[in-house]
Amino acid sequence: MRVVGAVGVALAGVSVIGAVTAYGQIDARSQYRGTTAAVVDDKGNLRVPANYRTSYQMLGSWAVAADDGRGSKEMHVVYASPGSMAAYRKNGNFPDGTVLVKEVFKASTRDMTTGTVSSAGTLAGWFVMVKDNVGRFPGNKLWGEGWGWSWFDAANSARTTSKDFRTECLVCHIPAKATDWIYVFGYPGLKK
Ligand code: HEC
Repeated sequence: MRVVGAVGVALAGVSVIGAVTAYGQIDARSQYRGTTAAVVDDKGNLRVPANYRTSYQMLGSWAVAADDGRGSKEMHVVYASPGSMAAYRKNGNFPDGTVLVKEVFKASTRDMTTGTVSSAGTLAGWFVMVKDNVGRFPGNKLWGEGWGWSWFDAANSARTTSKDFRTECLVCHIPAKATDWIYVFGYPGLKK
């Protein structure tokens, strides 16, 4: 019995160390596990995942045209947590715990050898969404319609400025309601 107990403790220690090194940070009390637990705490507060540019998969990008018609005023780059793109291609939906990150950049535009070209300039901040199929945070105004929703100013990736997703997010995502509120047509990797 003693030996079994010691082995159990040792294994638990190894798995905690593994989680910390794999994701850089962890909240043991999160209702989620793995990559998602590094983004959602026990109360449902979100944060921007660390190292998403290297550990997540890029879904696609959007260019918002400049008002004067020359180039773009904003560039949006969207990332998904590891494995969610493959799951979407297989099942036609994002699995529970999927994290989506949309970077918002002010674009900078110049003449290049390819023409008038806009590229990512200053980062304004991030939109983050987390898929929730079980209704984990019923009293939290940043959760509902199957997702957690938050905006982060570039200065603070750990604390949202959002208060209510219904007025601050959902209204603008109504055109994408039929595709689980996500503008999937902009993401080539989701198509089979
Ligand atoms: C002004 C309208 C508007 C508001 C407000 C808005 N969104 Fe969006 N969102 C869009 C549009 C349109 C897209 C896709 C095209 C683009 O990025 O320009 C998008 C894309 C996204 C994406 C990338 C995945 C997808 O749906 O394609 C995420 C993540 C996202 N929004 C999260 C949020 C969250 C969280 C909030 C609230 C804090 C929010 N959005 C508020 C209009 C909006």
